[in-house]
Amino acid sequence: MDRHREAVFITGAGQRIGFYLAKHFLQETDYPVLFTYRTKRPQVEALVELGAMGFQVDFTKPNALLELVTQLKYHVESLRAVIHNASLWLSDDKLKEGGENFRSLIQLHVEAPYYLNEALLPLLMNSSSALKDIISLSDARVEQGSADYVAYLSSKAALQSLTKGFAKKWGPDIKVNDIAPALIMFNEEDSELYKKQRLAQSVLGIEPGPDVVWQAVQYLMNSRYTTGIVLPLDGGTRLL
Ligand SMILES: NC(=O)c1ccc[n+]([C@@H]2O[C@H](COP(=O)([O-])OP(=O)(O)OC[C@H]3O[C@@H](n4cnc5c(N)ncnc54)[C@H](OP(=O)(O)O)[C@@H]3O)[C@@H](O)[C@H]2O)c1
Repeated sequence: MDRHREAVFITGAGQRIGFYLAKHFLQETDYPVLFTYRTKRPQVEALVELGAMGFQVDFTKPNALLELVTQLKYHVESLRAVIHNASLWLSDDKLKEGGENFRSLIQLHVEAPYYLNEALLPLLMNSSSALKDIISLSDARVEQGSADYVAYLSSKAALQSLTKGFAKKWGPDIKVNDIAPALIMFNEEDSELYKKQRLAQSVLGIEPGPDVVWQAVQYLMNSRYTTGIVLPLDGGTRLL
């Protein structure tokens, strides 16, 4: 069996932004794509049909990370990039007593990226590309904080710190950057009132869609001189 070379690995690519990124890597680059998904959605099949390799993983389950890394090491010779996209968006009023959901936020946004970075370092170092990247997706609202999303945003803040730490640790070999989006895509269940309020929170006032994340990922992967940054992708929300 030939192992994949110069591959891109994306977590949580079964829908929305992760799916868009995986699809565009498959359609617009030569990089093989490996991805994780939790729920088997039609998009998972679509990615597999385009040539990607998917792994069903729930990062909150025991041994999930260990088993995933074993699979990746079996199938992959070298990695050009790792993208930490999988996420749980949870307001504080949804936190269950006993902290189960809070732990999930930490497992997904901090523990999984930390463990995967360490475990996949040899595959990144096997890449013959002069540029090798780790990119995470956090949240623009880490800057301001939010009274309703204290747990979620604190876990994304930890992800931003993790980015800076690994950038120092692994420079100059590997660039490690974070993208901090504000509104990119509404959820299906969002009300018209909520949409209006969210659009009013940015200078540019649009729902830009996932292509702006694809553009940011391309910029970071092509840049020779950018590491350890948190790139705001926020339509100017921080100015208001
Ligand atoms: N969309 C926005 O406007 C926006 C704004 C700010 C930040 N972001 C960030 O951008 C990234 C992508 O956003 P998105 O809206 O596309 O994300 P999303 O749809 O909410 O979630 C991405 C994926 O994470 C997976 N996931 C959730 N819990 C998991 C678990 N326990 N184990 C493994 N996978 C799990 C989900 O799997 P399932 O398919 O099973 O649900 C989902 O497909 C996220 O990191 C998000 O925080 C997005």
